[in-house]
Amino acid sequence: MKILVTGGAGYIGSHTCVELINAGYEIVAADNFLNSTPKAIEGVRKITAADFPFYEVDLLDEAELEKIFAEFEISCIIHFAGLKAVGESVAKPVEYYNNNINTTLNLCKLMKKYDVKRLIFSSSATVYRADSPMPLTESAELGATNPYGWTKFMCEQILRDTCQEGWAVALLRYFNPVGAHESGIIGENPSGVPNNLMPFIAQTARGLHKEVRVFGNDYDTPDGTGVRDYIHVVDLAKGHVKAVDYALKNTGCEAFNLGSGRGISVVEMLQAFERANDLKLPYSFAPRRAGDNAVSYANPEKAEKMLGFKAEKTLEDMCRDTWRFQRAVQADV
Ligand code: NAD
Ligand code: UFG
Repeated sequence: MKILVTGGAGYIGSHTCVELINAGYEIVAADNFLNSTPKAIEGVRKITAADFPFYEVDLLDEAELEKIFAEFEISCIIHFAGLKAVGESVAKPVEYYNNNINTTLNLCKLMKKYDVKRLIFSSSATVYRADSPMPLTESAELGATNPYGWTKFMCEQILRDTCQEGWAVALLRYFNPVGAHESGIIGENPSGVPNNLMPFIAQTARGLHKEVRVFGNDYDTPDGTGVRDYIHVVDLAKGHVKAVDYALKNTGCEAFNLGSGRGISVVEMLQAFERANDLKLPYSFAPRRAGDNAVSYANPEKAEKMLGFKAEKTLEDMCRDTWRFQRAVQADV
């Protein structure tokens, strides 16, 4: 029995492949390299010294995807494959709805046909309404403000409706994943100018940008800058292993926050990065970014109680591992 990891060459998918293998699971991974490269799969093999089947397949191509279901007995699917850039989703809504929803529907169809009863879905803290009280619990009201967020909202609903008697579906709502594997072999390497804070910081430290622009210093937060719940990607990957363990023993559809439960401001993150890596980061304050909330952080108790998951890595780990991977990327160019 194998765990099928869709989007297995992506940032979170590749780290999860490593942790699944470390935990003794057999995996089969699939990706069409829309936002990744074969190097990530080679990296997983190198870190784990293990081989596993990988398929270059577009999940929108149901017939190609079905070949994996026909070849392997799959006990559980982890569905990472999808498009994830908020800004791009506003510019290309049809591509986002098509890719994120139809990949999920294709998996649901094949689960029914091949009697696969367990699925872990990559959802996001973005499914919570912006005006929800903090910290966010899984029962907070849902909503979205952009097409990307709506695709996660809609996929959650599709999966709640599809989850049948005897099935197990875990909707994992990630907060802000950062960091990289401590080997420096896999990590986040977005193409173009990064939208997210941590890759932008890492590239600035490398000299690729003049400075980090801090979007807003007049929020109602202790230092006026935006507060988020950052979670190390290796912790997040381990959370997926816990979710698989859970899905193999339970039934029903449940949502879980995967975060640290701790709010960190942009300036705190900049200072932590400087301290952890003994360097100076040029930064300046800029106007608020459209669509940003002041604060977002998780109440992580449900995942702790039901999955036995708790984020363990420190802010220093996140900063140090991000920088180690960024230097490895630089050495590779
Ligand atoms: P990523 O872009 O690094 O990984 C996604 C992978 O899916 C990529 O390798 C891409 O090539 C692949 N993919 C996309 N469409 C595909 C298709 N039709 N067929 C096959 N492969 C396809 O992103 P990530 O950061 O690893 O995110 C993984 C999942 O987690 C996504 O669903 C994302 O929306 C969700 N998520 C990410 C974050 C975050 O901040 N990184 C936060 C919340 C949720
Ligand atoms: N920020 C800056 N400067 C930058 C980039 C970001 O000041 O150059 C600030 C933002 O204003 C925000 C914080 O850093 O206060 C974090 O911003 P990110 O873009 O890194 O992350 P977001 O919280 O905006 O969004 C991320 C993902 C979304 C996901 C959400 C919740 O990008 O897809 O987390 O999981 F929905």
